[in-house]
Amino acid sequence: MGNGTENREQWGSRFGFIMAAAGSAVGLGNIWRFPYITGQHGGAAFVLVYAAIVFSIGVSVMLAEFVIGRASGLNAVGAFKKLRGGAWPIVGWMGVIAGFIILSFYGVIAGWTIAYMIKSFTGLMAAGAAGKAGDVFGAFVTNAPQVVAYQVIFMVVTIWIVYKGIGEGIEKYCKIMMPALFVILFVLIVRGVTLPGASKGLEFYLSPDWSKLNGATVFAALGQAFFSLSLGMGCMITYGSYLSKKEVLPSAALTVAALDTSVAFLAGFAIFPAVFAFGIEPGAGPGLTFVTLPNVFAQMPGGMFFSFLFFLLLFFAALTSSVSLLEVCVAYFKDEMGWTREKASWLLGAVITALGIPSALSLGGKFPKIAGKDFLDAMDFISSNVLLPLGGIFIAVFVGWVWLESGKKEANNEGKVPFAWETAWVWIVRIVAPVAIAWIFVKGLKW
Ligand code: PFF
Repeated sequence: MGNGTENREQWGSRFGFIMAAAGSAVGLGNIWRFPYITGQHGGAAFVLVYAAIVFSIGVSVMLAEFVIGRASGLNAVGAFKKLRGGAWPIVGWMGVIAGFIILSFYGVIAGWTIAYMIKSFTGLMAAGAAGKAGDVFGAFVTNAPQVVAYQVIFMVVTIWIVYKGIGEGIEKYCKIMMPALFVILFVLIVRGVTLPGASKGLEFYLSPDWSKLNGATVFAALGQAFFSLSLGMGCMITYGSYLSKKEVLPSAALTVAALDTSVAFLAGFAIFPAVFAFGIEPGAGPGLTFVTLPNVFAQMPGGMFFSFLFFLLLFFAALTSSVSLLEVCVAYFKDEMGWTREKASWLLGAVITALGIPSALSLGGKFPKIAGKDFLDAMDFISSNVLLPLGGIFIAVFVGWVWLESGKKEANNEGKVPFAWETAWVWIVRIVAPVAIAWIFVKGLKW
């Protein structure tokens, strides 16, 4: 027990690892959450703040996680135990708990994507043609047995991939789904921006409204950055633990952050031009993709097909992320409790699915609100806006102050590979990230 480093599974190739890590990062956060949050927070002004956070704090915390993971060759809790001990494993614990919480509601929304792939061919377009996709959405989310059934289907697929393991499961399927995702996104963008009248959508998306920029906006950008890059809960520690000692880490962190940010940014190009081309009001909030877009697709020739493609895109994005969330929990129970991968995947997967049921019911109003928020929104808020940034502070402080010399050696492979931004990285993990995150937190935290 506690000995996961012997005969530990490994990624088969650098490409496979990058696809898995980018697969974790690129998810519902990019395609479902980013565009509507951007819409709510002032368009391009928000995008700029977001990008600044990603390419300073984001990449640095990601590299810190890779480094902790590879140096220890262990899960999020085991890694801190091995490298320093004391109270540090609590950071890993918080991460595992965040993994349980996020996957519980993530599986619900991911389940919607399966339902919507089917609905694209069964009535969604007819409703959309009359501008009534909202009714379809309303009827669906209040139908608890259906929502739970799709959630269960999605979770079974997630569990099965994780059960197959790192190389034969996560890596293999991410290597197929991620390139497919890029192709689909490309098709949808070309379709969107070539529609007559598309430029109004680009204007809405890209013209900055600086007046909307305040503490709450920066706070939202920070939470979105951590959620979107899968940071602050040991996910990248876990994925890093399956890396070979030869892999070059700083460039891997930059590549994953760049892929993730491009997909988020490009998702806006797939969505807003089409919405405005048909003169439809862009829905604010989670309804943007599930209500506004079907109304839009219904107006297009071949709309059924584009609608299906869009929800397939969301499904792939969600699945490559959900496997990483489950892997954080599975790696912990495997390394630290001596469970088999099979037992950990199926048992934890079942527990997380059950934990998701209140979220599944909450949108139909069948579950009590928590201090005014739907259960699902409350879980989302607590995990993305509180647990992940807090985890980020501790991970940065750990590498910056407690374990810096070893961390630097792990990051540059004992001096064998160039690491051009080493000085910047050290400053960011020591000072910038802890101070900035704490400050944004204090200024922006509002239920
Ligand atoms: N990054 C994923 C997304 O943007 O949808 C969500 C996520 C996955 C968050 C894995 C955290 C994590 F550890």
